[in-house]
Amino acid sequence: MWPLVVLQLLNLAYCGSAQLLLNVTKFVEYTNCNNTILLPCIVYNIEATALADLFVKWKLGGSYIFTYNGATNESIPFNFTSAKISTRDLLKGNASLEMDRKDAVPGNYTCEVTELSREGETTVELRYHTGLTSHACAGKNRLGGESRDWKSVSWFSPNENILIVIFPMLAILLFWGQFGIVTLKYNSSIMKEKTILLFIAGLVLTVIVIVGAILFIPGEYSTKRASGLGLIVVPTVMLIILQYSIFIITPGIGMSSYSIAILILQILGFVLSVVGLSLCVTECAPVHGPLLISGLGIVALAELLGLVYMKLTAANQRTIQPPRKAVEEPLNAFKESKGMMNDE
Ligand SMILES: *[C@@H]1O[C@H](CO)[C@@H](O)[C@H](O)[C@H]1NC(C)=O
Ligand SMILES: *[C@@H]1O[C@H](CO)[C@@H](O)[C@H](O)[C@H]1NC(C)=O
Ligand SMILES: *[C@@H]1O[C@H](CO)[C@@H](O)[C@H](O)[C@H]1NC(C)=O
Ligand SMILES: *[C@@H]1O[C@H](CO)[C@@H](O)[C@H](O)[C@H]1NC(C)=O
Ligand SMILES: *[C@@H]1O[C@H](CO)[C@@H](O)[C@H](O)[C@H]1NC(C)=O
Ligand SMILES: *[C@@H]1O[C@H](CO)[C@@H](O)[C@H](O)[C@H]1NC(C)=O
Repeated sequence: MWPLVVLQLLNLAYCGSAQLLLNVTKFVEYTNCNNTILLPCIVYNIEATALADLFVKWKLGGSYIFTYNGATNESIPFNFTSAKISTRDLLKGNASLEMDRKDAVPGNYTCEVTELSREGETTVELRYHTGLTSHACAGKNRLGGESRDWKSVSWFSPNENILIVIFPMLAILLFWGQFGIVTLKYNSSIMKEKTILLFIAGLVLTVIVIVGAILFIPGEYSTKRASGLGLIVVPTVMLIILQYSIFIITPGIGMSSYSIAILILQILGFVLSVVGLSLCVTECAPVHGPLLISGLGIVALAELLGLVYMKLTAANQRTIQPPRKAVEEPLNAFKESKGMMNDE
């Protein structure tokens, strides 16, 4: 008996057109990439022919965030100042709410539409997630709380952060290794000014990258972090120039096919990391982190190869001509550097 009554009541409710019927969307998602957020609210049995017959209310949790009064054609956005509906689409049953991402807060939004005596409502959940799956957990944990803290999701994953800092640091250490060989092994054969220039350039590079790393290290995306990343990545172009200079001034190396290959590898790494950087900085979610990191890795690898090459060359020179080394090497080197100076 009771189920029948309930059924009939339900029938009345739906077929008697006492209700507005709304399409149900369980949730919509957004990322840093959405500049505007659209919360769908579609009434599919709207009959009103004038806006004056319509009233729209949007609620988040318990409180109203937006109302539209058709009788006065007046929209009132409460704390969500950018919230608006399109009055043009409203007569077609589209009461979707649009707002800027900066206003958006994840949560359950309820859309209530009233058309004369008929009304209906639907709830859509707005979810935030970062572009990368590896960050999704970090993002969700913070979303758990109802606070506005949800915007502070990590930019790169912790492992990516470490690699982004480690590779350039390693590359710089390897440069200092090369510099060590130059100053210790070939001290007498290389002009002091060149060594001093190398030292200053290396020191400037080291300081810039350390400053970049300090700006970059803390977790969430910010312009500070982005500029830190820029300071880490872009100055590695100096490593190419430094490595080139070291090859040129080191006796027995010059622009051999090995040094050219190493420099080409290093340029390739630099280009990759700069492309990766521009994609990570301009794009809302850094899905190109791996590109950036492999570029930085290649730069470090090129520095390592350069160091190994110099070490081998230095060792060879010693074993081939041990007794005359003291006299001839500086002499040769002097001739070479003279030749180079003439080339320049
Ligand atoms: C809304 O639901 C109705 C009925 O289920 C369907 O015909 C219509 O295509 C839906 N509209 C949208 C925009 O999803
Ligand atoms: C965010 O942007 C994506 C892709 O453009 C879109 O599919 C999605 O509906 C947007 N989310 C919201 C809440 O507007
Ligand atoms: C209602 O106001 C909007 C601007 O807020 C305007 O574009 C629209 O023409 C108005 N509609 C009517 C029926 O006055
Ligand atoms: C607007 O926000 C303030 C605090 O952020 C809150 O106290 C107030 O109740 C909000 N107003 C509405 C209409 O939600
Ligand atoms: C509803 O209106 C919004 C603009 O406010 C538009 O972007 C969206 O596509 C419309 N949805 C439908 C189903 O027409
Ligand atoms: C929204 O509502 C759904 C189901 O009612 C619930 O599972 C979810 O946790 C709610 N989300 C928020 C952010 O309150």
